[in-house]
Amino acid sequence: MSRAVKKIVLPVAGLGTRFLPATKAIPKEMLPVLDKPLIQYAVEEAIAAGIEDIILVTGRNKQVMEDHFDHAYELEKILQEKGKTEALEISRSMLLEEGRIAYVRQMRPLGLGHAIWCARKLVGDAPFAVALPDDLIVGKPGALKQMVDAYNELGGNIVATMDVAREDTSKYGVITPGRRSGKNVEVTGLVEKPHPADAPSTQAVVGRYILQPEVMAHLNKKMVGAGGEIQLTDAMAQLIGEQPFHAHEFDGQRFDCGSKIGWLMANMTLAAADPHLSEQLKSIVTFK
Ligand code: UTP
Repeated sequence: MSRAVKKIVLPVAGLGTRFLPATKAIPKEMLPVLDKPLIQYAVEEAIAAGIEDIILVTGRNKQVMEDHFDHAYELEKILQEKGKTEALEISRSMLLEEGRIAYVRQMRPLGLGHAIWCARKLVGDAPFAVALPDDLIVGKPGALKQMVDAYNELGGNIVATMDVAREDTSKYGVITPGRRSGKNVEVTGLVEKPHPADAPSTQAVVGRYILQPEVMAHLNKKMVGAGGEIQLTDAMAQLIGEQPFHAHEFDGQRFDCGSKIGWLMANMTLAAADPHLSEQLKSIVTFK
């Protein structure tokens, strides 16, 4: 029986350069898709997967996320006085029990692997999930719940994967697939951002992971990889052979909200599915 996944690390310390100037003073993770910031989608998905402890790896200019998960007393008071109960409820909807969200600071943006390593003391000796909030995955059940279910069956380490066009492999971590069982595929190799000609497959890792704490020992080596960054992929690759390692082909639609087109597609897709917005959207946009 695997040890249960009760913690999640949400790395939110990236610079978000692809979204400048919007991300100059506002974290990328606070960009809204419709009316909700990306970070809230990630926290909701984690809670729906039964995860209890939320660890945000933050950086400079990210304090606003702490405020988002806290009371906004002045706003709440005004809404109360005006009798705006629905707005008041929405504003209070993300208040988790005190102590469930912890924040740790990545002092220099040295890469995703380094961000995860910054959470090592809070992760301790427990398996943990990781979600990149700018990868928005719309699915029922949520992608993390699907991953936790797969983990409860398989144990070890699990990465979420999806098939991508061969010319896009250089944007992702890519697996070498082994034996398949339903939606789970054994991972026998893992490489970050391979050139399409060298990619071992077109199965790309997207921003959901379940990892064993031993990955921290590999991250501790601070190996610099693709793009001059400390890559999570390189540390995970070293776990292959040491521990069970699988890819889970999740059900759901993934949007790269760290890119303008991905973010726009997420907004359009969610608006098209929203009963209050879909008609208005259809009147201004023609869908193929
Ligand atoms: P990205 O590769 O999207 O980088 O990070 P970025 O800096 O956020 O954005 P661009 O490419 O400059 O536009 C993937 C995830 O890893 C986190 C990011 O916050 C995002 O969730 N990250 C990345 C860190 O927390 N620290 C880092 O040093 C790098």
